[in-house]
Amino acid sequence: MKLNIYPDNQTLSAQVANEVIALIKRMPDAVFCLASGDTPRIACQLVAEKAISEGIDFSKCTFVGLDEWLGVAPDNEGSCHHFFKTLLIEPLRLSPNQTFLFDALATNPQEECKKMDENIFNKGGIDLMIVGIGMNGHIGFNEPGISFEKYSHVADLDNTTVTVGQKYFSSPTNLKQGITLGLKHLMESKRVILMANGKKKAGVIAKAVGGEISNQFPATIIQRHQNGEVAIDEEASSELNLKIIQS
Ligand code: PGA
Repeated sequence: MKLNIYPDNQTLSAQVANEVIALIKRMPDAVFCLASGDTPRIACQLVAEKAISEGIDFSKCTFVGLDEWLGVAPDNEGSCHHFFKTLLIEPLRLSPNQTFLFDALATNPQEECKKMDENIFNKGGIDLMIVGIGMNGHIGFNEPGISFEKYSHVADLDNTTVTVGQKYFSSPTNLKQGITLGLKHLMESKRVILMANGKKKAGVIAKAVGGEISNQFPATIIQRHQNGEVAIDEEASSELNLKIIQS
């Protein structure tokens, strides 16, 4: 696992956006997966801006959305769907057949998971996965206690996720379950970048990078990924014990 610390969130986001752009230039039919949320917001905007200004062809790639709040309609502005649609799918003009998003209103969410897994396997797996980290150490909706061996699944949301998740919604929203790619997808992805910014993420980053690998803190799995990178800004690095990590 590599650790890269950037001076601020703008620089971090530009770097991550460059990775997406470089991947699509090198491999136009690549499969890339992004998280929604506050962390990747600027990176997504920069991907779209660069793709347009540099005339990069995204028509052959496949985009996979990391997760979704189960039961939340796609037009709800707090949904992951809405985030992906406004920040990536519309600006990059991605067509429905190159976009894999979980249907949060599916009558059979287990089927929805199977469909997602099959779609990913049929495309030959994920080339680049960009994820954030929750205040409980989750990645996507891989909540504390989750098996590292799972592909897509429905998750009962941890209390922290339910509480913190309200920030995305304009009015109080009933959040109980999520639908998410699993950590096995993450381990099988050819490259993974775990991003974090700001002081409030310093504690969870210290644990993810320096803590014992455990499913009680799912983000520690990044330490096991052969081509994993933790990309953070200086504020999010403020609780790292860099001497220990470098030794
Ligand atoms: P955030 O969410 O990017 O909005 O901080 C991260 C997460 O919960 O995974």
